[in-house]
Amino acid sequence: MSKVMRIGIVGAGMMGAEIALCCAWNGMDVIMKEVTQERADNGKQTVARLLTKAVDKGRIDTEEKENVLARIQPTDMYEGFDEVDLVIEAILEVSEVKQTLFQELDVICKPECIFASNTSSISITKLASAARPERFVGLHFFSPASMMKLVEVIPGLLTTPVTIEFAMAFCRTIGKEPVKVKNVEGFVVNRILLALMNEAYRLLDEGVATKEDIDTACRLGLGHPVGPFRLSDNISLDLLGKVHTILTDAYGERFKAPGIFREHLDAGRMGRKAGRGWYDY
Ligand SMILES: NC(=O)c1ccc[n+]([C@@H]2O[C@H](COP(=O)([O-])OP(=O)(O)OC[C@H]3O[C@@H](n4cnc5c(N)ncnc54)[C@H](O)[C@@H]3O)[C@@H](O)[C@H]2O)c1
Repeated sequence: MSKVMRIGIVGAGMMGAEIALCCAWNGMDVIMKEVTQERADNGKQTVARLLTKAVDKGRIDTEEKENVLARIQPTDMYEGFDEVDLVIEAILEVSEVKQTLFQELDVICKPECIFASNTSSISITKLASAARPERFVGLHFFSPASMMKLVEVIPGLLTTPVTIEFAMAFCRTIGKEPVKVKNVEGFVVNRILLALMNEAYRLLDEGVATKEDIDTACRLGLGHPVGPFRLSDNISLDLLGKVHTILTDAYGERFKAPGIFREHLDAGRMGRKAGRGWYDY
């Protein structure tokens, strides 16, 4: 990875914008595509806010901030995607929508370009069946992606060793620690996380402790940086609800979300992005 890499990011929401920052921060040129120019610009504004915080903390100066920002080009078109070395998709968690996108990209991107999906729960082999199965890989970042060091690297059935090596090297180049994981539902982290969250919801439901105290218990007793309720709000309950369904289908009742979780979903308490979830924001 000696030359400056060009990265295409599709989706500039919670994950896409932060992944764009990781790439630009490490010297890569980024095209960040959204469904509208306004959304793409919003994604870049998210990056600008994060960089301002980095300046305030003395991690970079304003000149470096401007240099990083200048490497990110927000757009609602595919212009420039013919030159990217890697596309990272971070759009809606809907298999058909993602597959359609990869079919479109297959026509535009150069043949050696690698396709990656940040999906939380959809089979990489299934997504890869849409285009370039040998050059397709899962790159599962964690929120907030600019801070979290882990990336799960998930090969599909036909992903070549060269593609896996490329993905692992890319992660290290942007300062992440990759772990290679088989293409199973939930991969490693979400299987552990949803089991933990379910138990936290049940504890609340049973009146064993308040959500604040359960969060405190996990922070101070397990060394977690945030407790399960705060984390659930950060990830968003609608996304977690979909993952619960997928894991329940794959592994059975142990992953079924308890009633108290579904009640929050039904009430529209989706988490931080909605201004209310387990907590109010
Ligand atoms: N939120 C998390 O903590 C988290 C963690 C890891 C992985 N993921 C995965 O990352 C992906 C994105 O999640 P998110 O939380 O950033 O969602 P988000 O809703 O914040 O952002 C998704 C963005 O994709 C855009 N989009 C939808 N279809 C598009 C298309 N065809 N072309 C371009 N842009 C399109 C939407 O306008 C939206 O801005 C999902 O697959 C999710 O499972 C999320």
